[in-house]
Amino acid sequence: MDKFRIKGGKALCGSVAISGAKNSALPVMAACLLTADRVAVHNIPKVRDLITMSKLLAFMDAKVSVSELPASDYVIEAPRLNHAEAPYELVKTMRASILTLGPLMARLGVARVSLPGGCAIGARPVDLHLKALEKMGAEITTSHGYIEARVPGSEGRTGRLKGAHIAFEKITVTGTENILMAATLAEGETVLENCAREPEVTDLIMMLRKMGAHICGDGTSTLKIRGVDELQGTEHRVIADRIETGTFLVAGAITGGDLTITNCEPEHQGAVIAKLQQAGVSIEVGKSTLRVHNGAKLVAADMTTEEYPGFATDMQAQYMALATQAEGTSVITETIFENRYLHASEMMRMGASISIEGRTAIVRGPTQLSGTTVQASDLRASAGLVLAGLVANGETIVERVYHIDRGYEHIVEKLQAVGAEIERVHAPAP
Ligand code: EPZ
Repeated sequence: MDKFRIKGGKALCGSVAISGAKNSALPVMAACLLTADRVAVHNIPKVRDLITMSKLLAFMDAKVSVSELPASDYVIEAPRLNHAEAPYELVKTMRASILTLGPLMARLGVARVSLPGGCAIGARPVDLHLKALEKMGAEITTSHGYIEARVPGSEGRTGRLKGAHIAFEKITVTGTENILMAATLAEGETVLENCAREPEVTDLIMMLRKMGAHICGDGTSTLKIRGVDELQGTEHRVIADRIETGTFLVAGAITGGDLTITNCEPEHQGAVIAKLQQAGVSIEVGKSTLRVHNGAKLVAADMTTEEYPGFATDMQAQYMALATQAEGTSVITETIFENRYLHASEMMRMGASISIEGRTAIVRGPTQLSGTTVQASDLRASAGLVLAGLVANGETIVERVYHIDRGYEHIVEKLQAVGAEIERVHAPAP
């Protein structure tokens, strides 16, 4: 397994360009299953999860064309889908495979998708996706680790999903995306209440609309979808990754650097910008750029994760790294996932003063972190540990960086280009 070796203490200066959003690209690729026509998608981040998604589409017999791998431009054509299945081998490496369930049910009325199971950050059930599909007429069983879903039709054939009124009991991002996609080809109108309002949901709506879907309510918690008989091909460019943007904002701030972040969407960063400013960070907001320079010293500021437009849970580990360098006590509360503090114990091994009480982490700073070997437990935890390594004394080794490779494009090269001393240590060949 590859590792990162980091020598801390360098202020990051210069400019870094943000890649496409992983969590937008995943549903956008899954949405290509909704049409028999050609769809061209651009600005796909060159990260492992998108390679997994393209393998999944290919497994279903979609034709996935790229000029290189990893790629940022894909052409996907799915005139026939012969395997309406997401197998365990792919789902176990990427939970977002569940995003194929809605499109398969919409297009074919049948799907077999491996249950994603829990992961390092929590149990992460998909019950709300399934309940919503049942309301739309699907019959669903789970056995042998698979979700088996089917819309009954006449004479033993599969039928078509029916529009329904669905109020999600809890806000779910991929749940909203899955049911939104399912509803585009359903018979009649679907009303979805208590939807996720994340920019990635809005990006998916933009693409679906270009494919001929009738959707209204973008950016609000109620979406209305009038089903159509078929969707057409289109071309779509995914939005910039707001979590990568936020991670670089923290990287600039924590190292006392002067970083200009380009190709980003500042309007998606409201909560992160406000929190960092409260913590003493200077941020200049441009049209598609952000400049972070840490003129003042960092001060503690409490933070609670929330659904968009609140502070993203996917930025919690990175914010914790920053809190270890801020003067005073920062109280961090994680409200989205029940077990998303595994990075805290690794930061404590680096000398951070953190105590965890249930969903609250109390971080006392500033502490001079000292480099050691730490283990990444999930994608964003890895980013938090890399940030901690950038300000630690001496050498930090971050192990299990396959997690970070799932979602950050060229993170080592991007950090090196702005002055970080970081390198990838490749695992010896077996
Ligand atoms: C999405 O996951 C993101 N993944 C996650 O990013 C992100 O952390 C999360 O939303 C929250 O913002 C993608 O977009 C591919 P949820 P998702 O359903 O959709 C509970 C990253 O690092 N819930 O919004 O799986 C659930 O357990 C990843 O890029 C149910 O109880 O998250 C959680 O507590 C990690 N039943 C809460 O809702 C359900 O059926 C929110 O989860 C669905 C969810």
